[in-house]
Amino acid sequence: MNHIENSFQNRAKSSPTADTARHLMFDDLEKLGRILVHTGDIAHGFVQGADDMDVICRDFSAFDPSRPLPQKGRGTLDTLRAVQDEILPLLAASIGPRYLGFVTGGTTPAALVGDWLASAIDQNATGPEGSVNAAVEEQVINWLCEIANLPVPQFDGVLTTGATVSNLLGLVAGRQWCGEKVGVDIDADGAGALPDLELFAASPHASMIKDLSITGIGRNNFTKVATHPRSEQTDIADLKAKLAASDARGKIVIASAGTVNATDFDDLNAIADLCMTYGAWLHVDAAFGMFAALDDRRAHLLAGLERADSITSDAHKWLNVPYDCGIFLTRHIDVLEKSCRAFAPYLDTKAEGNMYINRGVENSRRFRALPLWVSMQAYGRDGFAGIVRSNCDQAADLAAWVKSHDKLDLLRDPILNVTMFTGIGSDDDNRALLDRINATGEVFLTPTIYGGRFGFRAAFSNWRTQNHDLIIIKQAIEAVL
Ligand SMILES: Cc1ncc(COP(=O)(O)O)c(C=O)c1O
Repeated sequence: MNHIENSFQNRAKSSPTADTARHLMFDDLEKLGRILVHTGDIAHGFVQGADDMDVICRDFSAFDPSRPLPQKGRGTLDTLRAVQDEILPLLAASIGPRYLGFVTGGTTPAALVGDWLASAIDQNATGPEGSVNAAVEEQVINWLCEIANLPVPQFDGVLTTGATVSNLLGLVAGRQWCGEKVGVDIDADGAGALPDLELFAASPHASMIKDLSITGIGRNNFTKVATHPRSEQTDIADLKAKLAASDARGKIVIASAGTVNATDFDDLNAIADLCMTYGAWLHVDAAFGMFAALDDRRAHLLAGLERADSITSDAHKWLNVPYDCGIFLTRHIDVLEKSCRAFAPYLDTKAEGNMYINRGVENSRRFRALPLWVSMQAYGRDGFAGIVRSNCDQAADLAAWVKSHDKLDLLRDPILNVTMFTGIGSDDDNRALLDRINATGEVFLTPTIYGGRFGFRAAFSNWRTQNHDLIIIKQAIEAVL
């Protein structure tokens, strides 16, 4: 028994109820090795089994969310049995190879290990005070810039909870920059001090619309730019006309590098030229498209990305680290830090390094850099390039099969990793078809509307998807047509 436990036992005599509970924790601490090995076995079984389990769970009514909190605990080993009985059988195999919904990355073995360690060591990744965690985050941000061919001294950034928050930071920093250009300090005086801020966007992701609400700009308060016909790509002539017609003192252009449906890439150089001419901040949402840089057949799609003022990306999508891990990169880290700084005497430090607390929404932060660092070390640039290339090939393969099928229609040739297709029937027929496909348990697709038609998205973003999975996916679809 160590001295902490000993002194706890002495205190225990005065408060028996709390003591019993605390004892369970000390018991668990003594058994921790066994508990972790057992947890590892359970996790291993789930991860390995994800190839064979139903891809989504369609009925989790067996789980009762209204059950009251137990008064007495049962210890971790016994609770692990409850996890196995009550929760694991009701999960989606979203880490598995045929979960093609949304843009859901899997988890590489190294990222899983890094994530577990991040929990075990439980650093509060606010900054450099007393821990190397901030330096690790700095290194990871540099590596991400390298991947995206962004000049490291010019770009800096922060890991966020996801692309939604990264888009939020783009708006916050962009708005502050716009204000400073005309002598308005939005950080100090609020958004109302620059009422004539105008945003321009052709195909903003749903998360950006949400962020417009959160920032107080307003969901509807942006100038919709036209797209090219049957595309989600910004129409440059229309953007130019709208920027030229604007007399707003602050302008932000939101561009896309990989839209969520068609995976369209904007002409970033043309947009950057317009932003220079009209004094606008350029934010690029590259939530998964940034990793096209890893595929030499597609890297050109990102030409001009280095001219963006801010960039959104995600590691929990195509870099296959566990949720959550978003990426925000900017050429104006000072502006971001001004908007997000958290100042109080107790937060002050003399330690050298980046204060990540001043670069985002949260003060207390998970050590998100660790899973990325471990996975990037373990597999290197080539490892991630392999994921991107094979997922793009898989999207193209599925598209070719759809094209050749007389009961299916391809909605767009995939540019990247998403195949959009539908059945030849009505929208209602196709809604029912999607339900039947997902009910097979072999594959999971999510819905979309494209070119006015209801369709399905198959988003390939998992390192585990292989050619034999494509065979299973095609057979599953064929069986319910
Ligand atoms: C282009 C784009 N931007 C933003 C997001 C939002 O990402 P997150 O769910 O990580 O916040 C997504 C999610 O699919 C996306 O595809």
